[in-house]
Amino acid sequence: TPVRTADPATADQLATADQLATRIAAGLPAGFVWGAATASYQIEGAYDEDGRGPSIWDVFARTPGKVRGGENGDVATDHFHRYPEDVALMARLGLSAYRFSVAWPRVVPTGSGPVNPRGLAFYDRLVDELLAAGIDPWVTLYHWDLPQPLQDAGGWPNRDTALRFVDYAEHVVGALGDRVRHWSTLNEPWCSAFEGHLTGRHAPGVQDATAAVRSVHHLLLAHGLGAAVVRERGAGDVGVTLNLIPAEPPPGLEDIAGADDPVRLVDGQQIRLWLDPILHGTYPTDVIEDFARAGAELPIQDGDLDRISTPVDWIGVNYYAPHIVTPGPDPSPKPTPFAGADNVTRVVTTDDVTELGWPVRPGSFLALLHRLGGDYPGVPFYIHENGAAYADTVAADGTVHDPERLRYLARHLDVVRQATQDGVDVRGYFVWSLLDNYEWAEGYRMRFGVVHVDFETLTRTPKSSGLWYSRLIREHRGTN
Ligand code: NOJ
Repeated sequence: TPVRTADPATADQLATADQLATRIAAGLPAGFVWGAATASYQIEGAYDEDGRGPSIWDVFARTPGKVRGGENGDVATDHFHRYPEDVALMARLGLSAYRFSVAWPRVVPTGSGPVNPRGLAFYDRLVDELLAAGIDPWVTLYHWDLPQPLQDAGGWPNRDTALRFVDYAEHVVGALGDRVRHWSTLNEPWCSAFEGHLTGRHAPGVQDATAAVRSVHHLLLAHGLGAAVVRERGAGDVGVTLNLIPAEPPPGLEDIAGADDPVRLVDGQQIRLWLDPILHGTYPTDVIEDFARAGAELPIQDGDLDRISTPVDWIGVNYYAPHIVTPGPDPSPKPTPFAGADNVTRVVTTDDVTELGWPVRPGSFLALLHRLGGDYPGVPFYIHENGAAYADTVAADGTVHDPERLRYLARHLDVVRQATQDGVDVRGYFVWSLLDNYEWAEGYRMRFGVVHVDFETLTRTPKSSGLWYSRLIREHRGTN
């Protein structure tokens, strides 16, 4: 078990971000992977080109009241057409890796029908462009854009969707597996299950506990079967990308225990519900009991847990902020047995939060990495997403100065450095995101990019945070 250390130093304790960069560069191991991440629906645009079919996000975004300002991904950053410029930008920043997702409705427009070669050809071009620039592609097979016809047939609550995912994975791995050597099956399946089917904040916008819990199992099944496809084809390493959100009580309320302990509840559904079946082949019993309290059951069939626990080579960790949770000042009404539902109260803090109101807590990130290294030993971790939304402004001279994002990245990267020095096996970091993009139900207003995108002209401008990240990467290379 890795040693616990004190909270990481705040940036204020160090003179400048560049000094912090020097410490990070010197402390990370040689071969550490430096990347940036994106996702298909958030950046590609070209929603009806080259035979792409509709996804659940095309439909959800067109449903009045679902997305801020009614915005959709029809154009997004137009990456579909501008990918050569974007790859050149990545090369200029010095990235060694790029994590992107493949849009299932480009490859199999009807979800279960024939493959669309023109859809696959886009990823073929992108992968070749990346390799020519010396950038290693990391492909996520599913980042939330389910083909709408599969939704019409029942979506993730329907077991058949997991089997259709396997067919789709065969097409993509078959076409790109000679050049793509890193595969993530799913991105944040917690969001697909619970934001998609319990809170309804994401596509397909369902609000039904049974549908959410059935989705959990079928997403896990899709992961295990998809991982087996990569393994059988010898297409490189494979893992899954999870939002392992740490739960914390607010100061002074550390001692709540029992069934309604919101910390246990969030920890169970955000972390153990995914890592236990994937890495150990078992579902956590307390989470099964929570689901039963809501009248919902995991639709497990014989052999499923063996499939779900197909060996993985790594776990991708997405970290932004902890959930600070409380059962509320009064024990009634009781919290629902679900994490993420509004009445497992998330405490709203106002000090040091990002534009989305997410608390900036690098100490929580360090605690999470220690916990992962301690409770799930033997599997390497990659930070697949980390970043912050802040309202950026373009200065008169065209530059974009984003000191808050820079500070966020520096403090969290310093945590990664600390964790590796404490013995946690973290092998890479992908900043979210390369570009400002479509932040799902929040639309384009929430900017996460280290490169600014003007959504009128689609001009790209690296922000100060991107230039700092670039200097850090080069310094690390120079040190090793
Ligand atoms: C998680 C998701 O994977 C990504 O799509 C999203 O934009 C970021 N977090 C920020 O919310």
